[in-house]
Amino acid sequence: MPDTVPPDLLARLGEALGPAGLVTDPALMAAALTDWRGLYHGRALALARPADTDELSAVARACHAARVKMVPQGGNTGMSGGGVPREAGDELLVSLSRMRAIGAIDPDGMTVTVGAGAVLAELQQAAADAGFLFPLSLGSQGSAQIGGLLSTNAGGNHTLRYGNARDLCLGIEVVLADGTVLPMLRALRKDNTGYALRQIFIGAEGTLGFISRATLRVFPGLSSRTVLFAALPSVEAALALLRRFRAEDEAALQAFEYLAGSAVEMACALLDGVSLPLGTRAPHYCLVELGSPRRDAGLVELAESVLAAALEEGTVLDATIAASGSQAAQLWRLREEIPEAQRRAGPGVKNDVAVPIPRIPALLARGIAACQALMPGVRAIPFGHLGDGNIHFNFVAPEGMDAALFEPHAEALMHAVNDVVRELGGSFSAEHGIGRLKTAMLAEWRAGPELDTMRRIKAALDPHGLMNPGKVLG
Ligand code: FAD
Ligand code: MLT
Ligand code: ZN
Repeated sequence: MPDTVPPDLLARLGEALGPAGLVTDPALMAAALTDWRGLYHGRALALARPADTDELSAVARACHAARVKMVPQGGNTGMSGGGVPREAGDELLVSLSRMRAIGAIDPDGMTVTVGAGAVLAELQQAAADAGFLFPLSLGSQGSAQIGGLLSTNAGGNHTLRYGNARDLCLGIEVVLADGTVLPMLRALRKDNTGYALRQIFIGAEGTLGFISRATLRVFPGLSSRTVLFAALPSVEAALALLRRFRAEDEAALQAFEYLAGSAVEMACALLDGVSLPLGTRAPHYCLVELGSPRRDAGLVELAESVLAAALEEGTVLDATIAASGSQAAQLWRLREEIPEAQRRAGPGVKNDVAVPIPRIPALLARGIAACQALMPGVRAIPFGHLGDGNIHFNFVAPEGMDAALFEPHAEALMHAVNDVVRELGGSFSAEHGIGRLKTAMLAEWRAGPELDTMRRIKAALDPHGLMNPGKVLG
């Protein structure tokens, strides 16, 4: 145990949490100490697993008294390394996974209150069982937890219709670094009572306090849903198709995802049971989901008429409309498992960037040219949430290049993309946050009064710097 830590702290935590609530065996902690991407391998004093808000508050009080640092962790699917402790081994990892209760849906208020540890897929199912929709959806939904999703202000596939995690949240309960509980679990659409405190904790990646519970919005369940996959000659054609769907029926549009041909081919080559759903190979594809609470919404007809016009115009080369729920799931699998395919493909970088939608073609053309000039043969596999202007502008090392050769150039590739993003008025982090990976970028991009104000907020809420040290502000 590092000598900065009082020797009786673990005993005190053990008393507060009971045997199920404190893990000290390194083998049992191992999975929680490495992030999903395998970028960081931390160490921890122990892993605390509080069962409720009182226990979480007791953990924070004990750590605050001992000036021990705490790292909140949800499903550990974050892309920026925010949820794992650093290497010194003097931080307490705090998992919210036992706080996973999902309350009853309020059908009139259209809300649900859940514990921070509720797994997204379980909440989606609970909402569906009650005839409602909880629309947040992303490839990690089988593991990602509400506390983590709010703390990263996750986006995902349906942001263009329902907004980010922030937009789905009406109230939260927070436990501060000193154990104080902020009871802001209100289920109100209107509540102008002073500063909107909850918004500061949403997206703070655990650096200001723990989110312990949340009251979230649900929406009418979708009685009809249509998913289509289209092959396109250019990125501009994807924008044209998005425009057509918006003009025809903006309210029906649930998702508009872009996939570069290279990303699709990589997924088909590396994932079992994934194949191109069309006879036509193309440089670009998109996946579109339409939905409506109405059974007779005419979504297939809408899809057919938009596609017919686009085929005639030449902005769509070929397309398929899923004929069943399982075909729709298969199309979504091709899209959602691109991150897994990239993980298998070898060393690479992820650039989770956003630009105004009309600038996406310029972003892709200029970003690919800049990276290929730096590293000939580097493979661009851009994909993502085109309807939000958010492209996962990812790259994989040239065929045969190993990690030791690639890694020294990774940062330069990210900077090359970010330079283009900056010129186009975009953001270097659209939905994956800052975590540990992008602290230097944040310091550079937001230097000046914005960063100073963030530091003052941090100092006010966590004066001893105990919450998730080394993340976001560095
Ligand atoms: P963790 O990874 O455990 O933690 C993330 C951050 O939140 C950390 O800083 C952690 O300290 C903090 N935190 C966790 N819980 C709490 C809490 N209760 N209180 C305070 N702080 C907390 N993200 C998207 O936005 N859109 C996508 O489309 C998307 N797709 C993905 C696909 C795959 C295959 C994978 C692996 C990840 C994807 N992600 C995506 C990233 C990731 O799933 C999200 O960032 C998600 O919100 C993380 O949730 P988590 O519970 O795993 O949080
Ligand atoms: C996704 O949308 O699939 C992830 O956010 C992207 C990624 O892994 O880069
Ligand atoms: Zn994404």
